[in-house]
Amino acid sequence: MQTHTMHQDCERILLTEEQINSRVREIAEAVDRDYQGKNPLVVGILKGSIIFYADFVRRLTMPVELDFMAVSSYGSGTVSSGKLKIRKDLDRDVKGRDVIIVEDIIDSGFTLANLKALLMERGASSVRIATLLNKAARREYDIAPDYNCFYIENEFVIGYGLDYNEQYRHLPYIGVLKREVYEK
Ligand code: IMP
Ligand code: MG
Repeated sequence: MQTHTMHQDCERILLTEEQINSRVREIAEAVDRDYQGKNPLVVGILKGSIIFYADFVRRLTMPVELDFMAVSSYGSGTVSSGKLKIRKDLDRDVKGRDVIIVEDIIDSGFTLANLKALLMERGASSVRIATLLNKAARREYDIAPDYNCFYIENEFVIGYGLDYNEQYRHLPYIGVLKREVYEK
């Protein structure tokens, strides 16, 4: 088994590759059971969800279609503009579709609350959310994931798709970023 040395900007590893793999598998099996006989549109939110998305969809056994969106939110940290900016829209029409949104992390909930409302407004017959991480204590918007891999504390995490300044997305584990990296 290949071992990875921890990146020097990590304070500690929060979730190992093994922990992530087994939990993603459990979540995907639950989705697989719930959507048998359907043909869901699985929507990955770029770029943070890509690693989770790739591991997740490979566990599904029903017919699925893959699509992606890129959005920017002004919802967390700064004062919310109350609007989600779509930087890349879906290729497929969601009308009458069962949509599963795949996201890296739900923090304030701004992104997913807005996205879910938008897809419902466009006529999706159902919209559910699968998220890798859930910072439940940070929630400001009334939204909860239907499938959640891990609850985490209010710490800034990187790896397995998640970035700080576009760095660290490729790390195979989830680590806590050293404060000195973003405070300098
Ligand atoms: P929300 O709209 O406040 O729920 O923010 C969700 C987005 O914030 C995620 O898609 C991430 O891009 C970003 N985010 C929140 N917390 C973290 C973190 O700890 N690490 C990396 N990105 C984060
Ligand atoms: Mg993101």
